[in-house]
Amino acid sequence: MTYEKIYDIVKQKFSGVYLNRFIHMEGVVKMALRLNEHHGLNLNPEKVKLAGLLHDYAKIIKISELEEVIRKEYSGELLENILEVPATYHSFAGAYYIKRDFNIDDEEILDAVIYHTTGKKDMAPLTKLIFISDYIEEGRNFESALIARQVAFEDLDLAVVKVYELGIKKVQKANQKLFKGTEAIYKYYLERMNLKNWNC
Ligand SMILES: [Fe+2]
Ligand SMILES: [Fe+2]
Repeated sequence: MTYEKIYDIVKQKFSGVYLNRFIHMEGVVKMALRLNEHHGLNLNPEKVKLAGLLHDYAKIIKISELEEVIRKEYSGELLENILEVPATYHSFAGAYYIKRDFNIDDEEILDAVIYHTTGKKDMAPLTKLIFISDYIEEGRNFESALIARQVAFEDLDLAVVKVYELGIKKVQKANQKLFKGTEAIYKYYLERMNLKNWNC
């Protein structure tokens, strides 16, 4: 299926009350394409567009249905960790739906969709790009997004650190549950950048 065809289907599906979500998904496509170009990443633009557009494809599906998919697709400790944080369901179940509806089996695209909420250690370039773009696309105009956006055009790895830092703070402030291992991943990126702590 071509990108244009997929775009039309997604647009149709996300019309009406879901329009803002669609605008966000388009925002991620635009930001990811810009960063790909700006940093000379040379990622296939078609893949960047698909990962950006489809990263939140499962966001409008009922949480109980997402949970069912997750229980089928994951097991062990990872399953336990996912089940603790419903906000991650649409990303971990997302791959299932885009495979089912669009026949997408490209591992890089699927990985980018699955990890766009939590990120992970040693992210592949496309996964990193979507992880950052999701936080900083132009529609996100809260202050931390503006800070992270500035960093993203300077250095993508620093942007990963920043997105984690800001994301962890936000979850803690809201008294929500942090996805297990997130602080360890944040530390891993800090150490990789030779940073002890970072606040800009
Ligand atoms: Fe999402
Ligand atoms: Fe998103």
